[in-house]
Amino acid sequence: MQPLSFLSPKTTVRESPIHGRGLFAATRIELGEVVAVKGGRIINGYVLRGLRPRLGSAEVQIADDLFICPATEEERDSSMIFSNHSCDPNIGLRGQILFVAMRGIAAGEELTHDWAMTDDDESFIACHCRAKNCRGTITGKDWQRPELQERYRGYFSSYLADKMRA
Ligand SMILES: C[S@@+](CC[C@H](N)C(=O)[O-])C[C@H]1O[C@@H](n2cnc3c(N)ncnc32)[C@H](O)[C@@H]1O
Ligand SMILES: [Zn+2]
Repeated sequence: MQPLSFLSPKTTVRESPIHGRGLFAATRIELGEVVAVKGGRIINGYVLRGLRPRLGSAEVQIADDLFICPATEEERDSSMIFSNHSCDPNIGLRGQILFVAMRGIAAGEELTHDWAMTDDDESFIACHCRAKNCRGTITGKDWQRPELQERYRGYFSSYLADKMRA
């Protein structure tokens, strides 16, 4: 069966120094290339909270109280894009579900996005990204930080870009 998400044939999934499995460039990827497209079921926050104990963090937020996510353990791997968070990311969003290269990426580099580009929630977690500019803690309100809004202009999920404009 077709996987729920699309991962570019130029990518590969393997163990990551950041966390669990990560998405890596298998060959060089150019600026603007689509590296992944998130697929799954469209669910609200209430359903997501029920799935979390079994599925962990497997969703991408696409609007206020709407997420795209696997619905079962069987669907999880097929819906994952395996992009870990980095405070020095090399991929960003086009729209809400397309992930594109923010610069040329060499073969072997891990593909990461900053969750500030996608998340608006109450979470706090310690960051293990190892970037020189690591901010130490990732929060669900990082999208509100002016320096990140400036740095990732054009690469935020469109629902967050709309909030910034409002
Ligand atoms: C969508 S998954 C990413 C794929 C994950 N590595 C896996 O193997 O399933 C998100 C989870 O990865 C972990 N993670 C990703 N990036 C991280 C980071 N920079 N610091 C700490 N945990 C991270 C967190 O536990 C988070 O809940
Ligand atoms: Zn970090």
